[in-house]
Amino acid sequence: MAATAKLLYRPLPLFRANFNSNRFRRTLAQCSNRSRKADIKKARAASAALDSVLKRRTRSETEFDGELVRQYVSEGGHIPVMLGEVLEVFSRLTLRSFVDCTVGAAGHSSAVIRAHSELQLYIGLDVDPVAHEKAQAQIDTVMNDDSRSRASDLRAYTLLKNFKDVKSALHEVDRKLLDDGVDGILMDLGVSSMQVNNAKRGFSVLNDGPLDMRMNPQASLKAEDILNSWPEDEVGRILREYGEESNWRSLQTKIVKARLGGGLHSTGELVNLVQSTSGRSGGRQGWIKTATRVFQALRIAVNDELKTLEDALYACFDCLSSGGRLAVISFHSLEDRIVKQTFLDIINKEDGNGDEERFQSPKDSNDSEGEAWSKHRIGGRRGTILTKRPVTPTEEEERLNRRCRSGKLRVIQKT
Ligand SMILES: C[S@@+](CC[C@H](N)C(=O)[O-])C[C@H]1O[C@@H](n2cnc3c(N)ncnc32)[C@H](O)[C@@H]1O
Repeated sequence: MAATAKLLYRPLPLFRANFNSNRFRRTLAQCSNRSRKADIKKARAASAALDSVLKRRTRSETEFDGELVRQYVSEGGHIPVMLGEVLEVFSRLTLRSFVDCTVGAAGHSSAVIRAHSELQLYIGLDVDPVAHEKAQAQIDTVMNDDSRSRASDLRAYTLLKNFKDVKSALHEVDRKLLDDGVDGILMDLGVSSMQVNNAKRGFSVLNDGPLDMRMNPQASLKAEDILNSWPEDEVGRILREYGEESNWRSLQTKIVKARLGGGLHSTGELVNLVQSTSGRSGGRQGWIKTATRVFQALRIAVNDELKTLEDALYACFDCLSSGGRLAVISFHSLEDRIVKQTFLDIINKEDGNGDEERFQSPKDSNDSEGEAWSKHRIGGRRGTILTKRPVTPTEEEERLNRRCRSGKLRVIQKT
């Protein structure tokens, strides 16, 4: 045990290089078989300490500015996530044009507009008419703000549009924009607090409402259509692939069985079904966790979120000017994986059509060019990924806003 304990307590920096957490846990398990209770406890503590080191490796080092964030909390209670970090991403740029693909309550947008007096064109998109209306009012307020002496130099547009149509949105505003490109684009994915807190939208596990979950209320597909009429295999597939839910098979069976009694029509009924499968105890591993996965799966399917995101990332990159930056905040691993892989694909893609794409192994660089938040970069022909690892919120922000806990920020810059 002494040797194993020594291994477990090896100084942390040695673990940082090529640390393999699975191998570490296997060693821990072997050690547990042989050791006394006290040793196991020590080893577990070491594992927890390492977990926290691993998590911190991508944690933002930007000082959390609670005062700044408070200025941009919306009336509906939405707190813009990683606001300081987003401002830092664009702070080195001469930002003449900026597109917020997910304007929501316009928290990020307002702060970016105020931080860049050189801004000449702002475009905010949202697919939700309620968000769009709120955003428009908020942007008007910022435009009329007396402290912005040059407000009249700025043309601002808020459009009710899906971000997958970003190119046509830009074309609608100014044909030349697609040729010149825009200097900054932001995507803050997922739902806003206004959407989650409105039970009628059906996004919340904790508030009873209709099984809707549409970001765009004009769209035809609702969550209840999937639950009550999609083929059984398809229901299972989305629970498995979009919810990453291990218990998908028994949930699938129960959902389809519920059709015999008239189907599921409220989020409360769906939550009851989940509770009957995973037990009524809440907490991390209880029904809340399962229900959250089931709701995530349905939301992704209803709004075709993954395909829409992937297409939009390519489109947004095409819309950037040379040196322009695209920043994306994602909130679950499926989204983050798409952002990561699409960025890698983008920077190595051939320009032009028809040629076979050639993948060039990315070259790693520690060159941060003085930007503290961008520690490790990956360079490619068409662009540079400024966040080899995603940046995650500070502990202080997590304490203030639980919703930000799973947030991951990735940034790409066009060559
Ligand atoms: C997390 S909120 C953004 C909050 C915003 N950054 C703020 O500071 O207030 C995400 C917003 O993106 C919108 N949204 C989600 N998918 C979208 C899509 N495909 N196209 C356009 N907007 C979308 C949602 O309606 C929601 O208002």
